[in-house]
Amino acid sequence: MLTLGVNIDHVATIRQARRTVEPDPVAAAVLAELAGADGITVHLREDRRHIQDRDVRLLRQTVRTHLNLEMAPTEEMVNIALEIKPDYVTLVPEKREEVTTEGGIDIVSNFDRFSEVVKQLQGAGIPVSWFIDAEETQIEAAAKTEAKFIELHTGKYAEAKDEASKQQELTILTKGAEQAIATGLRVNAGHGLTYWNVYPVACIPGMEELNIGHTIISRAVLVGMKRAVREMKLAMKGEV
Ligand code: PXP
Repeated sequence: MLTLGVNIDHVATIRQARRTVEPDPVAAAVLAELAGADGITVHLREDRRHIQDRDVRLLRQTVRTHLNLEMAPTEEMVNIALEIKPDYVTLVPEKREEVTTEGGIDIVSNFDRFSEVVKQLQGAGIPVSWFIDAEETQIEAAAKTEAKFIELHTGKYAEAKDEASKQQELTILTKGAEQAIATGLRVNAGHGLTYWNVYPVACIPGMEELNIGHTIISRAVLVGMKRAVREMKLAMKGEV
């Protein structure tokens, strides 16, 4: 069954805009789960621009589904993950200047260092997912690190300007999922997915979990968190 991981980073973005205590992403996670979220995803960035260490610690205690911690494969983040023990970790590239994660991580060029990170995390019982573009060499490298999952970067699909390029990106994602599954990897996807473009990605054979944030939080500001999550679950089934 395809599952939905709700990324609540942008609840924290609103809080950090005033450096105050509201809205609390921990409360948002509770509401998302009550509305049917299958998992909660947060990205602890090096610059702490939205999610704070305190959020991850509290979420570890309150999340009833599963907690996916997105982070860069740095020593600081690995130590935090080893201490907090999320249900799985998604390793992402990170640049301080970017507005959001741009492009997948380059496992090929950092293979030895990154393999070591997988060994450390999975050795402590934390499954690892690589956030990568659907490129043959990156998928092969992900499998060689012995990570359990990949998360296919759907940004190019989401940004495609016309139907032909959208279909082209969808084919690339579908082939990437097929290749990954053939090597024993499990496949998630995310980035830039919306109520309007999610369904074709939800239909990719073997897809397990979609991690979706900005579009859900944007809708939640207007209609409330529970309704926004329920409507995304429907959109994933092609029902809205
Ligand atoms: N997956 C990963 C690895 C991400 O970095 C992000 C953005 O934080 C998402 C999914 C969610 O993307 P969006 O907010 O565009 O739905």
